[in-house]
Amino acid sequence: MTKYKLIGPITQLISMNGLPLKGALKDEQLPVIFNAGILTEGEHIHSIGNYTDLKEIASSFDSEIIELQSNYVCLPGFIDSHTHICFSGSRANDYAMRNSGKSYLEIAEAGGGIWDTVTNTRTASQEELCHGVVKRANLLLKNGITTIEVKSGYGLSVTEELKMLRAIKEANLHLESDLISTCLAAHMLPKDYDGDHQEYLNEIASTLFPILKEEKLTNRIDAFVEQSAFSKENIEPYFKKATEMGFDITVHADQFTPGGSEIAVKVNAVSADHLEASTDTEIKTLAESDVISVALPGASIGLGCDFTPARKILDAGGALSIASDWNPGSAPMGDLLTQACILGTFQKLSNAEVLAGITTRAAAALKLKDRGKLAPRMLADFCLFSTDNFNEILYHQGKLTPSQVWKCGDAVYIEH
Ligand code: NIG
Ligand code: FE
Repeated sequence: MTKYKLIGPITQLISMNGLPLKGALKDEQLPVIFNAGILTEGEHIHSIGNYTDLKEIASSFDSEIIELQSNYVCLPGFIDSHTHICFSGSRANDYAMRNSGKSYLEIAEAGGGIWDTVTNTRTASQEELCHGVVKRANLLLKNGITTIEVKSGYGLSVTEELKMLRAIKEANLHLESDLISTCLAAHMLPKDYDGDHQEYLNEIASTLFPILKEEKLTNRIDAFVEQSAFSKENIEPYFKKATEMGFDITVHADQFTPGGSEIAVKVNAVSADHLEASTDTEIKTLAESDVISVALPGASIGLGCDFTPARKILDAGGALSIASDWNPGSAPMGDLLTQACILGTFQKLSNAEVLAGITTRAAAALKLKDRGKLAPRMLADFCLFSTDNFNEILYHQGKLTPSQVWKCGDAVYIEH
């Protein structure tokens, strides 16, 4: 029998429903319901609305009533649309070297950089990697993140990439939150590969892609388009093959030099992520396309680089999502809310733009149509913050964390 639950009264419920996918948003556009309730039906939302009205409807369904005793603001469960939380090892030494003025090349020569994490990740077993993902995803859950994208990309061979993606699939079975996996075998040319960039990509596409399909490990392919990784020319045929096989595309684009976003638009990618180096030309091209721009403030903070020009992207009419990029190298913090607040402060984003970037627009960055807003038939994924004013949430720069997190109609975290 389907279980109905009514949760309320909620001082302010910000449904994020009905907002446009693209362009600037004003706080006045946020749909706020005062004295609200959420009526859930199993995993989904049956209805949202005035608490007293919903109580009447709920009584005809024999619902469980969960009556809240103090002020709460309710938001959809947050979505972190770009992470690398499947890894082993630490890059604390890179951090120290970077801050003492060492260049990217010097750090790589001293044994640091992405390859260092590849070496450590290859040493770890699938179970150890799975355990790490579960641990990190559970930390994110307490911060209200109910959906997490997780990339491979520290295996860099058919066998090792499979190990990572199987670990992510297994971790998903142990978690309350949902993991969306992505294959990032094109993160860099592995140092031990006996061939050039094109040969490596051809091997991945012909050998790994079919197994990804067969084992249902992912339906998303990512690549790092950058001077130190893969060129536009190398990556276009790789993405074309992936598209032909039915994969969705996402790109690490314009992080240090422009180029990746152009390819993202050309191959009709779902998202172009990073964009710290995007100029007005790239911003315009992205805004005119259906590609979602994903800002990763955690990487800017970690590397001491410019932030993604989020204000310009929105003003040009682009769709902006914000993600943590949690990884051991450039973004070890793993705190989406804090990073989104900081981006908002430096890029002068409205609270509506920041909140949309980690809810409804983040869902679009993962092509998920069943979450990111609170409305009938959406998943009942939401968080409750102990406050009577939604502006308090971003104002506290990530230090006001949810008191309750609900996933698929169940309370999965309650603060004590
Ligand atoms: O998104 N830019 C490339 N990849 C990651 C960093 C990975 C690493 O340094 O381990 C990123 O920032
Ligand atoms: Fe990344």
